[in-house]
Amino acid sequence: MANDASAVFDTLSPAVSRGSLADSFTPPADSTLWRKNFLLGAATASYQIEGAVNEDGRLPSIWDTFSAIPGKVLAGDTGAVACDHYHRWEADVEMLASLGLEGYRLSIAWPRVMDAAGAPNRKGLDFYKRLLNRLKEKGITTFVTLYHWDLPQHLEDRGGWLNRDTAYRFADYADLMSRELAGTVDAWATLNEPWCSAYLGYGNGHHAPGLANDRFATQAMHHLLLAHGLAMPVLRANDPASEKGIVANIGRGTPNSDSAADQRAAHLFEVQHNAWILDPLLKGSYPQDLFELWPGTEPLVLDGDMQTISAPLDFLGINYYFRTNVASDGAHGFRDVPLEGVERTQMGWEVYPDGLRDLLTGFKKTYHNLPPIYITENGMASDDQVTDGHVEDTQRISFLKRHLAAVDQAIKAGVDIRGYFLWSLMDNFEWAFGYERRFGVVHVDYSTQKRTIKRSAELVEKFLKERKARA
Ligand code: FCB
Repeated sequence: MANDASAVFDTLSPAVSRGSLADSFTPPADSTLWRKNFLLGAATASYQIEGAVNEDGRLPSIWDTFSAIPGKVLAGDTGAVACDHYHRWEADVEMLASLGLEGYRLSIAWPRVMDAAGAPNRKGLDFYKRLLNRLKEKGITTFVTLYHWDLPQHLEDRGGWLNRDTAYRFADYADLMSRELAGTVDAWATLNEPWCSAYLGYGNGHHAPGLANDRFATQAMHHLLLAHGLAMPVLRANDPASEKGIVANIGRGTPNSDSAADQRAAHLFEVQHNAWILDPLLKGSYPQDLFELWPGTEPLVLDGDMQTISAPLDFLGINYYFRTNVASDGAHGFRDVPLEGVERTQMGWEVYPDGLRDLLTGFKKTYHNLPPIYITENGMASDDQVTDGHVEDTQRISFLKRHLAAVDQAIKAGVDIRGYFLWSLMDNFEWAFGYERRFGVVHVDYSTQKRTIKRSAELVEKFLKERKARA
């Protein structure tokens, strides 16, 4: 999609000099973001940054397989080298600390730490031990995601998330990791964005493993959520001091008109995007409207599964990026109706901070047991260039500022939100879009691996310094 965001932004920029933008990033005096216990950090994921896919006994993952298939990833990119973080982790931790970021959300590559028989791979484990120890030495709060989409290929060869057994293998993996890493992890998240794993991976085939069937998507979702539920008591037993939860991506659906049919379409959009995951976790049941949308796709659920899935969470991680405007498709579904003249990012995603606030306040009403929330991802891609050693990522600065304001509004409306992680610390492998889409607050030159701090990161650093200095 064309990047018409720059056009919208240009209309703002004449009045906004670099200096005044810098000042305007700082939240207003009454913002809850000034509270020192509101955690501000950055996030990454293993396959997107590590590279070193054949080193130290790492096994292939579904993303190695998928990205090697021509046509699946833009420009034929793969995660084979990525940001070479596996070798550059020390400098990357220094960079993170130098920016004053208080939290770091990373993920562990399952195929790096366990062999096909389930035995530990010491070299892989040592990498994460060194990394997490260093982060703790720097005083950085660590959020560790166990599964950010890089399923070992040998498990996919046995059916992947369509095979119930994968949920039990995941609990074994969670057991190993929490025994080995207890004490270095402040918060564990079992899964990142089960919606993407289930729907993009098994429902429409845009992500690995590339299968496309609605019935597969609902069954994969059930096994993913079961994996989460089986892992939670294991994490609690092995690492009682840490927090445990899960990360979900949420989407705002708005109706294209006031008609009842369009309103229903927007409701169904949010059912499949949000309630499909949050209802089982927080209410112990799947939303029945989902099967109106996808008739005949009810997953096979065994006795006790829903109790396992809905055990209490210490926190819920929320990833938010954009909204989708929808109309009725005339049957029982919805169709996207992209709005004209709105601000968009390099991904073509609409910039819509109100969606984040409205979803959070809505969840507070829908789920009486809504756990404390961390925004575990929020950010945007832009076609950033390094000029004279600087990157002026003006649209990102404005984006972050407006989304943080939406978080502040949600907190003031009574939602318990405890922190916010920028996506992402640095430019990285953006899945099916490869390296073209730059989400980092740090620029990566992939030919030299040089990192350049973008203007947005400088402003976050400035704000964090100011906050620290306050009495
Ligand atoms: C999320 C993913 C993350 C990143 C952002 C842009 O869906 O969790 O890895 O790709 O989108």
